Amino acid sequence: MAAKRCWPPVLALLLIAGMVGNTRAGNIAVYWGQNGDEGTLADACNTGDYAYVMISFLSSFGNGSPVLNLAGHCNPGDCARYSSDIQTCQQQGIKVLLSLGGQGGSYGLSSSDDANSVANYLWDNFLGGTGSSSRPLGAAVLDGIDFDIENGNPAHYDDLANALRAKGPMLLTAAPQCPFPDASIGPALQAVPFDIVWVQFYNNPLAQCQYSANGDDTDLVNSWKKWTSSVNAGKFYLGLPASTDAASNGYIPPDQLTGTVLPAVKGVGSYGGIMLWDRYNDGKNNYSGQVKGSV
Ligand SMILES: *[C@@H]1O[C@H](CO)[C@@H](O)[C@H](O)[C@H]1NC(C)=O
Repeated sequence: MAAKRCWPPVLALLLIAGMVGNTRAGNIAVYWGQNGDEGTLADACNTGDYAYVMISFLSSFGNGSPVLNLAGHCNPGDCARYSSDIQTCQQQGIKVLLSLGGQGGSYGLSSSDDANSVANYLWDNFLGGTGSSSRPLGAAVLDGIDFDIENGNPAHYDDLANALRAKGPMLLTAAPQCPFPDASIGPALQAVPFDIVWVQFYNNPLAQCQYSANGDDTDLVNSWKKWTSSVNAGKFYLGLPASTDAASNGYIPPDQLTGTVLPAVKGVGSYGGIMLWDRYNDGKNNYSGQVKGSV
């Protein structure tokens, strides 16, 4: 019994080392906002699964009035109640960003002046600025801006990123498609160092960079190597569908992710974790729950 009360120090050290060995090496980021049945933003954060949540999307911007589209969650102009959810997330150390663009939507920057005015708008309405009396997400100050630009028009996103950087400290992240270079956000990624790049390894041509259904990760790993060696960014995340329903292709079963894919990408480049599309599908499939110990 005495041994239980005072374990030899060396045993205690081994136990501590074992615990450290189990610590996650990376984080999970998730998109929230495009499905009214996915639960609230606070619900997502309260799962404890995520380090980053991207509110999606500011689906219209540039040359006119920007529109926040949170699908079934709230009507544009009636989303300020999410301010307390944002604070609930931030109190847990979770970074909350606003994502620009998305697959639908109508957006684009026509000039560097246009980029500057969008930067001013974002700063005053979602970030640390005080120049707006009608902040769409209320008083909460978001941690940064995510560029999910998918419409093939890359003009002036470098100007927008630089103008945002000049406003004050914030996270700048981007979600390019996996074929390199990305048609939409590629030029900005070459011009401006982003904090995090979550590469979308889904909904893309099978032969170029996707995980194939027969378990072959060669194209994905080659693409990961290309991205992480060609772009100057703080961290890179493997962007994945959270279920077979979340995307038309690219789903990696949890056991294959943890068994073969993560070991292949973790040692290459500045690995930061995985990004999931989206919270709705993650909630249904419990993907995070099944992989988070290995991310
Ligand atoms: C998610 O999966 C993990 C790991 O298998 C399990 O421990 C957890 O109970 C699951 N959560 C839900 C809500 O099913």
